[in-house]
Amino acid sequence: MNIILIGPPGAGKGTQAKRMIERLGVPQISTGDMFRAAVKEGTPMGLKAKACMDKGELVPDDVVIGVVNERLQKPDCKPGFILDGFPRTLDQAKALDELLDKMRSKLDHVVVIEVPDNNLVGRLTGRRTCRGCGYMHHITFDPPKKEGICDKCGSELYQRDDDQEVTIRERLATYHSQTSPLIEYYSNKGIVRKIDGTKNMQEVQDAVKASIGA
Ligand code: AP5
Ligand code: MG
Ligand code: ZN
Repeated sequence: MNIILIGPPGAGKGTQAKRMIERLGVPQISTGDMFRAAVKEGTPMGLKAKACMDKGELVPDDVVIGVVNERLQKPDCKPGFILDGFPRTLDQAKALDELLDKMRSKLDHVVVIEVPDNNLVGRLTGRRTCRGCGYMHHITFDPPKKEGICDKCGSELYQRDDDQEVTIRERLATYHSQTSPLIEYYSNKGIVRKIDGTKNMQEVQDAVKASIGA
């Protein structure tokens, strides 16, 4: 099953993807996670990406499309994938269509997680991500048992560089101007499933599963 998750920063794309991968037997492909890994490794691509990420802007399409193209060729994508945070522009969406055509594959569902902007700042400033396994805790909505330590694997939790309020506002503006038009693009193909992302994590998960018939 091939799924795209669309939603503003903090909507819960990563949280929901991580809860679905085992059941569906497909990988989560987060372009944001891939760029953060490249930043950590200090690769030239990582340096380029970091400059954009720190400003809340998008990484250039050609860079992102190259990375996703390579990733989708890996054998673990044979049964399908959950794309988290890609595509984010119309050009990325069109490039993905071409890629999937070449692979003789297609999208099954575009799950749009809707959350109003005023709920998102608190979600992002309170997020604590695990350095080890990538799990996202939240200081209020999903607090770790021991402060600063991941419940899942015991590694240290950290705050993302782009989770400062000024950068969050820029990311929200970028989402509304560049990414939200994709909802209409995919609506025209009849594959959009809209989810109320303001409910708690489990309720959102149930709604996502129901929307994709899983
Ligand atoms: P990316 O890493 O994709 O960031 P994002 O889109 O801003 O989204 P987030 O990861 O911040 O939020 P999320 O929806 O995954 O929420 P989460 O589940 O963590 O991208 C980062 C940057 O990389 C971009 O700004 C851009 O520069 C670049 N980039 C990436 N992809 C790109 C592309 N395709 N093209 C160009 N540039 C690209 O949840 C957030 C918090 O809320 C957590 O603490 C969680 O515990 C909590 N939470 C989740 N669900 C709920 C709930 N239902 N109720 C209460 N709390 C909840
Ligand atoms: Mg995420
Ligand atoms: Zn962990």
